[in-house]
Amino acid sequence: MNVYDSHRVAVILENLGFEQAVAPKYADLIIFNTCHIREKATEKLFSDLGRIAEVKQERADEGKDTIIGVMGCVVQAEDEQIAKRAPFVDFAFGPLAYYRLPEILEKAARRKGETVIDTEFLAESKFDFLPQNKSEGACSYLAIQEGCNNFCTYCVVPYTRGIETSRPVRDVLDEAKKLVDEGTLEINLLGQNVNSYHGEDEQGKERNLAYLLRKLNKIDGLKRIRYTTSYPADVDDDLIACHKEIKKLMPYLHLPIQSGSDKILKAMNRRHNVAQYLDVIDKLKEANPIIGFSSDFIVGFPGEDDKDFAATMDVVDKVKFIQAFSFKYSKRPGTPAAVMDNQVEEKVKKERLEILQNKLFDYQLKFNQSSVGKTMDVLFENKGRHAGQLTGRTPYMQNLYADANKDLLNKICRVKVKEATMNSLSGKIVEE
Ligand code: 5AD
Ligand code: SF4
Repeated sequence: MNVYDSHRVAVILENLGFEQAVAPKYADLIIFNTCHIREKATEKLFSDLGRIAEVKQERADEGKDTIIGVMGCVVQAEDEQIAKRAPFVDFAFGPLAYYRLPEILEKAARRKGETVIDTEFLAESKFDFLPQNKSEGACSYLAIQEGCNNFCTYCVVPYTRGIETSRPVRDVLDEAKKLVDEGTLEINLLGQNVNSYHGEDEQGKERNLAYLLRKLNKIDGLKRIRYTTSYPADVDDDLIACHKEIKKLMPYLHLPIQSGSDKILKAMNRRHNVAQYLDVIDKLKEANPIIGFSSDFIVGFPGEDDKDFAATMDVVDKVKFIQAFSFKYSKRPGTPAAVMDNQVEEKVKKERLEILQNKLFDYQLKFNQSSVGKTMDVLFENKGRHAGQLTGRTPYMQNLYADANKDLLNKICRVKVKEATMNSLSGKIVEE
């Protein structure tokens, strides 16, 4: 979502006459987009700001002004802290306020002393005021939903991105068509809770994600559809049916479970238990037998004991995720879990994360190895590290390298997979 927001901010700035600089020292304006999900992400901002303060000083010595801004969830949560810890920051705004950037910039240019801060949640939707999105290549993100009402006890999202809102069906379809006209082949629908999408159609009727997927399926020129991130309890039968019906829907789903222990899921305030999660997985596999799953895990949530952790390891063995993201529980100020008594020691969290990741990486490697010898569709998105190479994504989001002419950039090719590591595949193009 942050990549999407940054892209939209870049479009606003382009419309104001800005051009992208090749490095910070050439930039008159620098904006950091920030994440507050775990403590590490937040601290990274302050270390990056320290470095950029030096650039600002070097430029000042050459007689050049540099305006520095911070956007995103850290601002929403720690607005005053930013001004205190980094007073050279000229302006800061939250993730729902960025459509007001032109006004914010004007105020910042005139500021005397205080950092200009905008973290208001207004009733209006930013999407109604943003300039039209632009395709940046063959793969585009499209935000259809934002915010979250789930209030998992560890998570800051409902506080920083606000309550759940869905964009109207018409707006989503118009944006999708425009992106496809500009060269997009793959659309990844975004939302913190994307499968609880409930946007209104032109008759004012609420429509679900399945409805949107079926409409997108009809857009000529659109080849691939993905959606992320889904909440397990909100995967309904209509959505599952889409995985059978819609060939453009890629056979890969990110479906976070967080923990394999019902006790911990309850303490996390998740609206699903392990059995329900596994049931959804089974139904999706029935709809599309070649589907692969990825997930998010948190280890060391308050109260997690060895038995709970063993249950998480069991779930991994049951589902055999083809990719996963796993984290040590990180206390977030203002969330209920941060003040729970039975916090887990850092040392234990570290050990569990290592054990879990070894297992997850092992399944990921095995899955990648099982791709060797197969011929897959790959959408080439970028130049590779070596000359004459391109990199792209398989339907399963695996990163694949191949020797390829750069004319094949932003195209889908048939590629025979030759080698696999945990993080990537390499292959040979067999059909352009
Ligand atoms: N500590 C650790 N991981 C977290 N996540 C969200 N909040 C926290 C936290 N406080 C993880 C969850 C979520 C992913 C985006 O980040 O696994 O799915
Ligand atoms: Fe956070 Fe996701 Fe839970 Fe919402 S569903 S509170 S975004 S972890």
